[in-house]
Amino acid sequence: MRILGIETSCDETAAAVVTDGHHIESSIVSSQIDLHIPFGGVVPEIAGRAHVQRIDAVVTEALLSAGLDRTGQGIDAVACTVGPGLIGALLVGVSHAKAMAWAWGVPFLGVNHLEAHLYSPFLEDPTIEAPLVTLLVSGGHTVLVLLTSATDYRVLGGTVDDAAGEAYDKVARLLGLGYPGGPVIDRLAASGNPRAVTFPQGLRGDGYDFSFSGLKTSVVKHRKANPDQPVEDVAASFQAAVVSVLVEKTMRAAREHGAKAVCLGGGVAANSGLRAAIAGEAESAGMRCFLPARSMCTDNAAMVAAAAWWRRDVDGPSPLDTPANPALRLHGYGIRKGRNAR
Ligand code: KG4
Ligand code: ZN
Repeated sequence: MRILGIETSCDETAAAVVTDGHHIESSIVSSQIDLHIPFGGVVPEIAGRAHVQRIDAVVTEALLSAGLDRTGQGIDAVACTVGPGLIGALLVGVSHAKAMAWAWGVPFLGVNHLEAHLYSPFLEDPTIEAPLVTLLVSGGHTVLVLLTSATDYRVLGGTVDDAAGEAYDKVARLLGLGYPGGPVIDRLAASGNPRAVTFPQGLRGDGYDFSFSGLKTSVVKHRKANPDQPVEDVAASFQAAVVSVLVEKTMRAAREHGAKAVCLGGGVAANSGLRAAIAGEAESAGMRCFLPARSMCTDNAAMVAAAAWWRRDVDGPSPLDTPANPALRLHGYGIRKGRNAR
């Protein structure tokens, strides 16, 4: 089954053609990062307008790169992120996807952006052996999820304040390192001493919820008191605190639930320290570790098409009056089975 996926929930305009959830025939991502850098974060109005300007070219390029044309021949369904995200941004992709699905006479599949990240590790290797524990870490979310089958999952915990990526972005801004913070802190951390400063690890050892706002405040206070310390050491110590608490909770959840594997998803899953630490811990625990390719960690449309494929039978096609929902959540604190609340 060949699915055209579309993603416009935040600041990437993306389209991809994916067959059977893992053969990526094309994946085009047009990042708007340059437009938002001067403001130190994503400006919703600018994001929406840029999506409008780019969507048609991005979708066309995805179709042509996959050896297809704009007639829809060979496409079995059109999938698009319907939430969560910025409403003005979501609406561009959703309207475009619905129009194409209607014109081509194929189903429209509305996708939860977090489920797209959840299925992104299986673009590389589509063998889902449940139970498995996935840590979703992005700019907007930090959630620990237990998959009990390819389509049933339960949320074990999440952040009570900032998302991990948000902490990276805020700390980078406060250290004057620019936006987005994740990649630059990751790079600096590689040449710093992770033991230079002991930063607090919020909610460590306590359930499966996360807290990063205390850590952020602590980094700011430390920087004010020690302005001459090499920024690499501060970056490495901050990253060590984030990675340590993320890995500790993920591995504890995996052991507690008898998981066969651990997975990462979301933009922060591109982090070198986090990838190395979770892979090492999983190996010691005799579990498999699924890491999406770095390009599939940050927002893209291949993961949207993949999630639509994995969930097509349980969720069914979405009606063409399905709204964009900026506040869409992962289902449950409770087992999520059956139809999606699209
Ligand atoms: O998944 P994503 O592209 O968008 C959301 O759905 O939020 O994630 C973006 C987030 C940003 O906060 C960015 O700083 C972070 O992912 N990020 C990283 C790295 N690359 C991106 N964080 C840590 N290390 C990285 N290498
Ligand atoms: Zn995302």
